[in-house]
Formats: sequence, C-alpha cells, structure tokens
Amino acid sequence: MERVEQKSESPSPPEETTPARTFEVKNLSIWYGEKRAIDNVTMDVASNAVTAIIGPSGCGKSTFLRALNRMHELTPKTRMEGTVLLHDEDLYSSTVDAAIVRRRVGMIFQKSNPFPTMTIGENVIVGLRLNGVRNQKFLNERLEIYELKAKYTIVTVTHNMQQAGRISDYTAFFYLGRLIEFGPTTRIFTNPTEKQTEDYITGRFG
Ligand SMILES: Nc1ncnc2c1ncn2[C@@H]1O[C@H](COP(=O)(O)OP(=O)(O)O)[C@@H](O)[C@H]1O
Ligand SMILES: [Mg+2]
Repeated sequence: MERVEQKSESPSPPEETTPARTFEVKNLSIWYGEKRAIDNVTMDVASNAVTAIIGPSGCGKSTFLRALNRMHELTPKTRMEGTVLLHDEDLYSSTVDAAIVRRRVGMIFQKSNPFPTMTIGENVIVGLRLNGVRNQKFLNERLEIYELKAKYTIVTVTHNMQQAGRISDYTAFFYLGRLIEFGPTTRIFTNPTEKQTEDYITGRFG
C-alpha cells in the first residue's frame, strides 16, 4: 500500500524506526468460562494506520477487537491475562474508567461498507492518477482511508482477503486464538513466513 511521505528538511530517518503505536498488547489471553478464545497474543497497533485482523471464523478476531476497548468484559464469565496499553496507559488499570475507554475507542460493527463517505481531497486523487490509477471506485476508497487515517487508528476485522490487501497497512493472521503471523500487509500477502498464513490467504482453508 502507498504510504504518504512526510516532507521534511532533515535527512531520511534510519531504516529501523518504529512507527508510533496506539496499542501495545502483551501476552493477552482471554477465556469465556473454560474456553480460551485468545492465546498469549503480543502485538502493537500502529497509530494512524489500518491494521486488518484476518482468520477463519471462531479464531478470536472479535474477542481481540473487543479487548481493545474493554467490551469483552461485558460478557459474563470472561477472564483475561496480559496487558493492553493505550498510549502507554494500562487500559485495564483500576483507575481507568471503562465507559471513557469505550468512548475513546470506537467500535463499528460489520456493515457492507465500514467507511462512511467523506469529502474528496483532490491532491490525493491527483497523486494516484499520476501513478496511472484510473478506476474511480478504487480512487475513492484510497481517499477515504487516507482521510480516516489522518485522524484515527483503525483496526478492522475482515474475511475478505482482497479488501484486507487493499485497505490495510498491517495484517494480523489469527488462528485458534493464536497470532500466527503479523506484519506489513504487503509482506504478509506476498511473502508470508508461516505456511498456515499462506494457506489461509490463498484460500486453502477458512
Ligand atoms: N460470549 C461467548 N461465550 C462463550 N464463548 C464465546 C463467546 N464469544 C465467543 N466465544 C468463543 O470464543 C472463540 C472466539 O470467538 P470470536 O472472537 O467471536 O471469533 P471470530 O470473531 O474470529 O469469529 C470461539 O470459539 C467462540 O465460540
Ligand atoms: Mg467475529
């Protein structure tokens, strides 16, 4: 996916700069009664980027997403281990008000179009056109995502591999509650290190 280059007077940053992160999830496990839905997941969620959670039904995608705003707590008999930091603050600390967290971390549940139509920034369109992109639907989608990312950090759950590949910067592949593979979407989709990831994204199961 294209990333917008920031104009800067300073020399280019070192190769290994870590992008700013909104969430830091460490050793997260979540149970519903005896059933472990999330199994020791550690991953960061980059700020002002789109992270796609992919994986077959029942692998813990929704549970993981709900843990990012303490919504899973509303389900009786849930138990959690591990930590979730939101901008370096422990989301589950006794001093944090869950109602405020749920206002800050919004959840949009599956709809046909997760992104509301927004105004058009001609500069982005022009940039893409210069790169030979002609398809209007594609241009509009790029633009909406670009505008949303300027304001928000987005974590999305999808079963649609084409959509995940198009709209996300990072992809996390979950299977049976475990995070099998996580990285830049371009790498996950072109050169996954895990066979299970490759099998899933090429449609061999799920
Ligand atoms: N409220 C619940 N009570 C008991 N088990 C649940 C509940 N919600 C989800 N689960 C179980 O936790 C696992 C993960 O579910 P979920 O997070 O919904 O997966 P996904 O979103 O990937 O389909 C599944 O085995 C599911 O049956
Ligand atoms: Mg789900």
